[in-house]
Amino acid sequence: MSNILVLHGPNLNLLGTREPGVYGTVTLAEINARLEAAAAERGATLRSLQSNHEGALIDAIHEARGWADGILINPGALTHYSYALRDAISAVGLPTVEVHLSNIHAREPFRHTSVIAPVCRGQISGFGAQSYLLGLAALLAG
Ligand code: DQA
Repeated sequence: MSNILVLHGPNLNLLGTREPGVYGTVTLAEINARLEAAAAERGATLRSLQSNHEGALIDAIHEARGWADGILINPGALTHYSYALRDAISAVGLPTVEVHLSNIHAREPFRHTSVIAPVCRGQISGFGAQSYLLGLAALLAG
């Protein structure tokens, strides 16, 4: 497992200033930098994309075929209702880990459901920016 596609869904471009009490003050650029450093230590290569558009994320998942060995994804609110995103992950068949900064199970009831998790290897939720690093480690561990 050496090539990883990292996907960040809607509104995650606002990390750092977005509801810091819920999501912390770490920016998306900082999260990507930490992921890059962790990947480099393990000899892995990352491609990262943030999009507020469901279709752009789906296109990136399709384009990952033939390059990526795995996908690390924080789908944002798409987690809770995007069957299209779920189907894309299922269609390409790449091992995928779902991550969330906040503990979605401790928040509003609509966040308790993930339609993405059933097509993922697993879900890491609630550890802030660390969730991404734990997710990367899980993917790279195979
Ligand atoms: C989130 C949790 C989602 O419910 C929310 O819509 C987000 C961020 C998280 O990382 O905690 O945008 O995925």
